[in-house]
Amino acid sequence: MAKRITAPDIRASKGQRKITMLTAYDYPFAKIVDEAGIDMILVGDSLGMAVLGYDDTIPVTMDEMVHHCSAVTRGASHALVVGDMPFLSYEAGPEQALASAGRLFKEGGVRAVKLEGGREVAPQTKALVQAGIPVVGHVGLTPQRVAGIGGFKVQGKTADAARIILEDAKALQEAGCFAIILEAVPAAMGRYITEALEIPTIGIGGGAHCDGQVLVIHDVLGLFERFTPKFVKKYANMAADVREAVTQYKNEVESGVFPDAEHSFSMDPDEEKKLS
Ligand code: KIV
Ligand code: NA
Repeated sequence: MAKRITAPDIRASKGQRKITMLTAYDYPFAKIVDEAGIDMILVGDSLGMAVLGYDDTIPVTMDEMVHHCSAVTRGASHALVVGDMPFLSYEAGPEQALASAGRLFKEGGVRAVKLEGGREVAPQTKALVQAGIPVVGHVGLTPQRVAGIGGFKVQGKTADAARIILEDAKALQEAGCFAIILEAVPAAMGRYITEALEIPTIGIGGGAHCDGQVLVIHDVLGLFERFTPKFVKKYANMAADVREAVTQYKNEVESGVFPDAEHSFSMDPDEEKKLS
């Protein structure tokens, strides 16, 4: 396998090629995504909704993130694994951000972290980068602030709002981010920000002009059925496939079709006779 992708590799890809990113939360999916040649694997706090059954990402803890980051990093040998900093694990300031990112790095094995927010998290970003921890920014829709925003909705619909988000993105670039996620913004704004920044933009509902794209793997595979954002394209229908397989298993057990001889262990016939 080719050498492991680093944060500087991603940074240098801007204008050269499109960057690919998907989430993963466990070993088997990380391995598949890694072997497919995806550049970055995000252990997103979308974990809370996709895997842990929470209504939003707010309850996700550091312990949960560390647990899943370590499973993902065991499955990935080529992709750059990025650990998401959960809600209130960095907002208090650089010291808190360092402690949290340190756990994702040292216990979770990731080699970059992501945090949500604009200029207000620039001090945290700067402290992490100075400590040698590469940081991905995240502006536009920031789901950890869903209570304040009032729902998961498109951001930056006016030119004024787009300029404010660009100033935030520039502050993050200045603070040392090597890439920045643009979530749920109009495509025209994705282009405006992508052209104005020196670091790559990774869109999720940010339009075709972003330098790369990211999606939640449970959405891509059709595994998460509770709701589907407009920006999601389903490339498989795994929930239906799983439902069909499980139903077939149930029917075969109930009707005695499974297990058959092929899936059972045989005994020496002479020994078997002694049983009766
Ligand atoms: O948690 C997550 O999966 C994310 C992305 C979708 C960008 O933050
Ligand atoms: Na997230």
